Amino acid sequence: MEVLRIKAIDTYTIRYKMLRPNGTLEDCMFQGDHDELTFHLGAFVDKKLVSVASFYFEKHPLFEQAYQYRLRGMATLPEYQGQGHSSALLRTAFPVIKQNQCPILWCNAREKAMGYYIKVGFKATGELFTIQNIGKHILMSVNID
Ligand SMILES: CC(C)(COP(=O)(O)OP(=O)(O)OC[C@H]1O[C@@H](n2cnc3c(N)ncnc32)[C@H](O)[C@@H]1OP(=O)(O)O)[C@@H](O)C(=O)NCCC(=O)NCCS
Repeated sequence: MEVLRIKAIDTYTIRYKMLRPNGTLEDCMFQGDHDELTFHLGAFVDKKLVSVASFYFEKHPLFEQAYQYRLRGMATLPEYQGQGHSSALLRTAFPVIKQNQCPILWCNAREKAMGYYIKVGFKATGELFTIQNIGKHILMSVNID
């Protein structure tokens, strides 16, 4: 498996299939996808893109750190799940986030994915909340040191 920087457009197929199956292509285009400090990572197996994640320079008001990164669009194709692809993307992202002077990475985690985030070191803050058409989420974060 190989982790590479990819473009926003490269993430859309997996985002669509795994995160917005009842949505439109536009629903797979996230705000900030093309911002200067945004980066997108992909895991490749035999040259096939199997897992994606995107990282945005964005502050959450509940966290005090001035500089923060947000994780969005993390997904692995079903037949490749449980093989360490998403965690490899995170391991690659951490030093980049640190280099950008950000000591924290946060995400609005789907309830179903909470177990995954806990496994890779995230902690939950607050209560579950609902995002329309998608379902229950919880704010989660990990310190990067
Ligand atoms: C959540 C998701 C991104 C994890 O991707 P993945 O490539 O399968 O993750 P990894 O293989 O790197 O998993 C890392 C560890 O977390 C565990 N794990 C993965 N998904 C889990 C889950 N839902 N609950 C509990 N543990 C989980 C793995 O077993 C692995 O444990 P190990 O280190 O003991 O072997 C993937 O299941 C997915 O695409 N889900 C559907 C889309 C989604 O919900 N995305 C998150 C949006 S917030």
